[in-house]
Amino acid sequence: MPTIRLAVLVVFLLACSLAAAAGPGGAAVATAHPLATTAAVRILRAGGNAFDAAVAASAALAVVEPGSSGLGGGGFWLLYLADTQRTVMVDGRERAPLAAAGDMYLDKSGKPLPRASLDGALAAGIPGEPAALVHVAHKYGRLPLARSLAPAIRLAREGFPVSEEYVGKAKFRLQVLRRHRRAAAIYLDDGALPEPGWMLRQPRLAQTLETLGREGRAGFYAGPVAAEMVRAVRAAGGIWRLEDLRRYRVLEREPVVFGYRGYTVTAAAPPSAGGIGLATMLNILEGYDLETLDKATRVHLTVEAMRRAYRDRQRYLGDPDFVAIPRARLTSEAYAAKLRAGIELHQATPSAALSDAPAPVGADTTHFSIIDAKGNRVAATLSINYPFGAGVVAGKTGVLLNDEMDDFAKQPGLANVYGLVGGQANTIEPGKRPLSSMTPTFVEGHGRVAILGTPGGSRIITMVLLGILEFTEGEGPTAWVTRPRYHHQYLPDVIQHEPSALAGVRERLRAMGHALRDVGRRYGDMQAIMWDRASGRLEAASDPRGIGSARVVHLHATAKPGE
Ligand code: DON
Repeated sequence: MPTIRLAVLVVFLLACSLAAAAGPGGAAVATAHPLATTAAVRILRAGGNAFDAAVAASAALAVVEPGSSGLGGGGFWLLYLADTQRTVMVDGRERAPLAAAGDMYLDKSGKPLPRASLDGALAAGIPGEPAALVHVAHKYGRLPLARSLAPAIRLAREGFPVSEEYVGKAKFRLQVLRRHRRAAAIYLDDGALPEPGWMLRQPRLAQTLETLGREGRAGFYAGPVAAEMVRAVRAAGGIWRLEDLRRYRVLEREPVVFGYRGYTVTAAAPPSAGGIGLATMLNILEGYDLETLDKATRVHLTVEAMRRAYRDRQRYLGDPDFVAIPRARLTSEAYAAKLRAGIELHQATPSAALSDAPAPVGADTTHFSIIDAKGNRVAATLSINYPFGAGVVAGKTGVLLNDEMDDFAKQPGLANVYGLVGGQANTIEPGKRPLSSMTPTFVEGHGRVAILGTPGGSRIITMVLLGILEFTEGEGPTAWVTRPRYHHQYLPDVIQHEPSALAGVRERLRAMGHALRDVGRRYGDMQAIMWDRASGRLEAASDPRGIGSARVVHLHATAKPGE
């Protein structure tokens, strides 16, 4: 009898673990551009897994959203490996060139050189995206790299009609694009702003992608492509050397993992500020019964959590290979309890009261989410920083350079282009990675899995926070990507918000001592997926603020012609 009972128990446990390990059967993809979503779906249908699809989506986004991410940039790819139930963060963040110096964006008298870390070749860090694509494809993919790059190569060579969004970004950066001959020749229509529908063709970028597919890492970081990039960067006033490219390495890092109300949150680790920031904010908020509170109190407490997390961002965070980060303490519940104790229920804490930090002197990126039939997942946020990065194309390679160096603290107290005031941990050093806000994230618990992330500079982390709160309150991905957004980043000491986000509570928040700033438009471009294990349902959603597309794919269906 006991043997039978034991056998039943073993079978039951086995069934449970199989059910937990089993994937959704179908797949889902959400990216910021319909052509990138199609590229990823095509690779899934060709037998690729989520990691192959991620390579296809990243490369396609590099082509169809050249203003947001690309081979000349970097990013973080958060992976969940269903077989081993392991999570890993692939860090393909740019590094400062080896000839970089702490004062490289200051003049002789110590004054900041206007826009030197934003426009032009001196603003460019050493790209990490090509190395990351090779790494993800070789280590985790099932298809050859060249196969996963094929849709992007075709889009680059044959061209595609640009969107209104593209035109908007090009208009925003028109001056810089016009200043650089090759950039103007590629991204503008005879030097003028293109109309929506204009065909953007990038044959040289197609060639570089082909070389990468054929030769792997060496196709970008050595040989003729590397030589041409270094030549072009130096001719345009930059400081890259061949050695910078040769020594670039992708790193695998342990993501930040913590609990929130029975959910496990897994998010980007330093050099992203995202995971630690989310842990601080959610650990603080776990001490309140948010759902029972009125909207004004709820916003107030969330803002106070944001303020404290961003204070710590400035104080402690940077490249973990260069600075010691008190990661365990910052993500602990005990630390959050201490911070929570300093929050008043109906009164804002002025940021100035939280530290002796100097006041600020002054006041495009992309994300995709993928799950495959086995349950492998990818959340990836990729960037060249400001729209169209540095605005410089590296010679005949067709690669648009990033301006990620602006994410460093260039001088104590000086804000970057997103208003983030830099701290000592994030000063420029040769080979260092600039601190990022990019926060690809998984949340899992209560039988449901969420995959999410967004572009949006310093506001990325708070957008992901608001998305997680929606999810843990039972909402689906359409609600996470749609909800109106608000943000606080410690400095400036003001709640930045979308026009409708604080409707009905503005006066109460002001009465509590909060300053409010309507940013005048909606922001973010969240791409999200939810898998409900119990019902087996997959849902995907693309932010209505952008032009992205989200698709749930039934892989047994016959492929449509052309797919
Ligand atoms: O890594 C970062 O935090 C920034 N370079 C991201 C820039 C960004 O999201 C721009 N998009 N709106």
